[in-house]
Amino acid sequence: MSQLKIDRVWKEYGDQIVLEDVSITIESRAFVALVGPSGCGKTTFLRMILGQEKPTRGTILLDGAPLPPEPGPDRGVVYQKYSVFPHLTVLGNVLVGKELSAAPITGRLFGAARRAAVEEARAMIADVGLAGSEDKYPAQLSGGMQQRLALAQALLMRPKVLLLDEPFGALDPGIRKEIHQLMKRLWNETPMTVVMVTHDMREAFTLATRVVAFERPRDRPEEKERYGATITRDIEIWPPRRPGTTPA
Ligand SMILES: Nc1ncnc2c1ncn2[C@@H]1O[C@H](COP(=O)(O)OP(=O)(O)OP(=O)(O)O)[C@@H](O)[C@H]1O
Ligand SMILES: [Mg+2]
Repeated sequence: MSQLKIDRVWKEYGDQIVLEDVSITIESRAFVALVGPSGCGKTTFLRMILGQEKPTRGTILLDGAPLPPEPGPDRGVVYQKYSVFPHLTVLGNVLVGKELSAAPITGRLFGAARRAAVEEARAMIADVGLAGSEDKYPAQLSGGMQQRLALAQALLMRPKVLLLDEPFGALDPGIRKEIHQLMKRLWNETPMTVVMVTHDMREAFTLATRVVAFERPRDRPEEKERYGATITRDIEIWPPRRPGTTPA
């Protein structure tokens, strides 16, 4: 299970109100696309779910329990760029989460534990279509391959919630289409809830079970600092998409 319940959340930076009274319950296994104008607080919202930022007011519950105050393996994230470590190989990038959570000081695994982790990482690399690239460095990969790697890295930790911040925004249309297929399949096959920020409506309606728009209901310049953005639209995709049933 991986239900998110966001209840009357506000986020302010100093005098600036970014998000105002946001409430939404995201059911387990949902795929929510978040859309909205630049600067309205989409990334801020993801960062609060990730645990990198705290709400100024309000609560966020994951399966009924308050979110741990810091990022943890139950929440994975992929950004538009720079989700992977440039100085680690493909295999090293996928392994790094496991290594750091198993051995926080040395960041190393040994013996049978390492062999098992390597095997799991290789399977995940193959699953995202990167078999054969295990020893390459991110700079030697195309943009689409880097995002595949970032997905593999996030998914190896088996997160309950996968947070995506415009992960495919910088890719060419053809490559995007391919990675959309991959994303659909991963969501279908993995017991996780996805929250994805996108600027691309077509992408939102291609992938999501639900499209949520953030907007500032009042947007006159003199009101900008005093009022935040909130949810102004919440559209369930019809016919409903259910994980495990939608063809990839
Ligand atoms: N750490 C911070 N300190 C102060 N202000 C911040 C901080 N993070 C974000 N903001 C402000 O919060 C507002 C929302 O930023 P955010 O990055 O969440 O927007 P966004 O919707 O993701 O925009 P974009 O679509 O351009 O990525 C902006 O005005 C930004 O300047
Ligand atoms: Mg953003």
